[in-house]
Amino acid sequence: MNTTYKTLEEIISNRRTIKSALMNGKLIDDDVIKQLLSLANWAPTHAHTEPWRLIVYNNQSKKDFCNAHAEMYKQFTPEDGFAQAIYEKLQQMADNASHIIVIYSKRGDNPKVPALEEIVATSIAMQNILLGAAALDLAVYLSTGGMMHKQPMKDYFKLTNDDVMIAILYVGYTDEHKAGKRLSGIETKVEWR
Ligand SMILES: Cc1cc2nc3c(=O)[nH]c(=O)nc-3n(C[C@H](O)[C@H](O)[C@H](O)COP(=O)(O)O)c2cc1C
Repeated sequence: MNTTYKTLEEIISNRRTIKSALMNGKLIDDDVIKQLLSLANWAPTHAHTEPWRLIVYNNQSKKDFCNAHAEMYKQFTPEDGFAQAIYEKLQQMADNASHIIVIYSKRGDNPKVPALEEIVATSIAMQNILLGAAALDLAVYLSTGGMMHKQPMKDYFKLTNDDVMIAILYVGYTDEHKAGKRLSGIETKVEWR
């Protein structure tokens, strides 16, 4: 294998999800984040619908988003399901992170492209960001928790019914090193015919 492949393999296999609480509070330059975002734009895209949409928070705005997320949780969670600990966790979610990148898939108006394919394209765009971040030794927490998949979150971002929230990425630096784990090797998921 050539060195480009080796480098790519290293980045892919060493990429880890790191909880935002394990980030160290160091800030990332906005220009670095812009570089990562530009990687998203190279995702494959059927009929060039380019459905990935990215909302970026930094500085104070990331705290504002976390507060809004926590309030959304409080407002739309039935009293018997509400947990103060989750409310506070959502509020503090980005305290040690540098930026938040919200990713959603924008349903285009090309009926020849199935909605699922727009979600797939946006997921690949997200992976481009994750790999770019890994190559830069940045930590990313990929979260779909809290209100992420709930209607109030779609309303908050003014998504249409056909648009789909994909993830909230908390991005920062960390001093942690996490070992990768898979329950089974790829050979158990592959069938050669
Ligand atoms: C679609 C998707 C949603 C995820 N949502 C969460 C989440 O809400 N909370 C979380 O802790 N991790 C979440 N993860 C990250 C996984 O926990 C993580 O990828 C898994 O533990 C494997 O670890 P690795 O990414 O370090 O290889 C999500 C991953 C994917 C692909």
